[in-house]
Amino acid sequence: MQDRNDIFPDKKGATRGDTVAPCCSLLFETPVIPKQFTAEESLFRNKCNYKIEHMARTYWKPGTMIYPLPAVMVSCGETPEEYNIITIAWTGTINSDPPMCYISVRPGRHSYDIIKRTGEFVINLTTENLAKATDWCGVRSGRKYDKWKEMNLTPAPAKYVKAPIIEESPVNIECRVKDIIELGTHHMFISEVLGVSIDDAYLNENDAFSFSKANPLVYTHGHYFGLGKKIGKFGWTVEKKKKKAK
Ligand SMILES: Cc1cc2nc3c(=O)[nH]c(=O)nc-3n(C[C@H](O)[C@H](O)[C@H](O)COP(=O)(O)O)c2cc1C
Repeated sequence: MQDRNDIFPDKKGATRGDTVAPCCSLLFETPVIPKQFTAEESLFRNKCNYKIEHMARTYWKPGTMIYPLPAVMVSCGETPEEYNIITIAWTGTINSDPPMCYISVRPGRHSYDIIKRTGEFVINLTTENLAKATDWCGVRSGRKYDKWKEMNLTPAPAKYVKAPIIEESPVNIECRVKDIIELGTHHMFISEVLGVSIDDAYLNENDAFSFSKANPLVYTHGHYFGLGKKIGKFGWTVEKKKKKAK
């Protein structure tokens, strides 16, 4: 019988022997444990009654696979001369009350020194319309370019911080740095949210932010996507159905 690894060569980062053919049931008529598993693995699979048909899985080396993420544009700087924008995907919420979030930035970035010195920045959410600017600001440095001019973005005053907001963004989250954790490649700026401004154009009839109007941009493993269709709302799985009026 042909070795499966000859037919399905290892993927980058996968450990040889972990690669499992997606159609291995075609290759093995009877459910046998393939020879590239170690004795320990085979024992475990036997114990679990692990079926050949369930084995279409590949192990990759450890990596950052929590996707999708928002790709945001972070604006920083105290004066118009130093205002800059950096695209950030390593960002997220870390506490509800007080509202706190983080951005992780490589120390080599031009924005890193600005944010570290000023202790402030603004997270500007992005949209499909801002996709080009989001990508461009993530591959060009403020050391060489005026990203505002190049991408036709408008700096406008924020309410709580000296860093400007990006006027074209639907949501601007004004942040003050509370702590910096030096993790490795990236330093994590743990920050408090001081204020949030929303472009009125994206408010719906209940004054809530309408994501469907904004078309947020999503970043997944090197690619940008739109949001896709709505599936449900928070807690819909346990919501009691309203009785129909007679
Ligand atoms: C989609 C995307 C996400 C990015 N996420 C990060 C990130 O989380 N942290 C980071 O340090 N750089 C990130 N970058 C790279 C920076 O945005 C890029 O190096 C930028 O040119 C730095 O600008 P600056 O030198 O003006 O600060 C990302 C780039 C892109 C395109």
